[in-house]
Amino acid sequence: MAETQAATEGTQSEGLSPELRSKMALALDVDDLVQATRFARQLAPWFGVAKIGLELYTAAGPDAVGAMIDLGFDVFLDIKLHDIPTTVHKAASVAGSLGVSYLTMHAHGGAGMLKAGVDGFNEGALSAELPAPTALAITVLTSDADAPEHIVPARLRVAVEAGCGGIVCAASDLKDIREMAPRTLRVVPGIRAADGDRHDQPKAVTPSEALQAGADLLVVGRAVTLAEDPAAAAAALFGAL
Ligand code: C5P
Repeated sequence: MAETQAATEGTQSEGLSPELRSKMALALDVDDLVQATRFARQLAPWFGVAKIGLELYTAAGPDAVGAMIDLGFDVFLDIKLHDIPTTVHKAASVAGSLGVSYLTMHAHGGAGMLKAGVDGFNEGALSAELPAPTALAITVLTSDADAPEHIVPARLRVAVEAGCGGIVCAASDLKDIREMAPRTLRVVPGIRAADGDRHDQPKAVTPSEALQAGADLLVVGRAVTLAEDPAAAAAALFGAL
């Protein structure tokens, strides 16, 4: 991403290189666009991607997407679409036309739904004369303790065949996913400092561990947003990179 208004407002000397910054997604898990914008501005030297989840999107809708694009971020809309193909196609098309770069969909929805979502997402971006975006598949929720193990490779296969460009996975699955789908973008949440609070992430890893294991995009939320000084927490978290 080109140098942005947001990036120039931060302390460049403390931030990441443009290449690393484009691999870091800030999870804006708040219900208030003012607060989200504050985090985004403060943390822009470390993050090139702003992740808008269900909480912020329910509160602020497309305004949240526009606000983050205006600040110079690539937007990751993490609303985990799962519905009939027609509905997913239309919703994904709106996301594409808004300028969303990454959009999540549940692979549980099946090949037809995923393909409809990928097509809609691409068509929306094309209609707004924007570059082709990346649809991301969720194989299983980490909270789904009943999901059988064999389901992850099966859903990964369906997602790749449907044209999803990326997959959200735990760092522990990176090796298998690299082997099964080497050209698929690998997105990894659960990033923490080695000595940091893990909150509810049982499989937390540090940024360097995730990158070394082959992650392409790291999702970071509470490790910085719950800190008393988010910028200092980001500097410490990414200090070893
Ligand atoms: O860094 P933190 O644990 O706060 O990040 C949580 C973010 O990662 C949330 O936005 C959540 O939706 C996302 N996520 C997750 N676990 C997964 C997939 C995504 O925590 N398996």
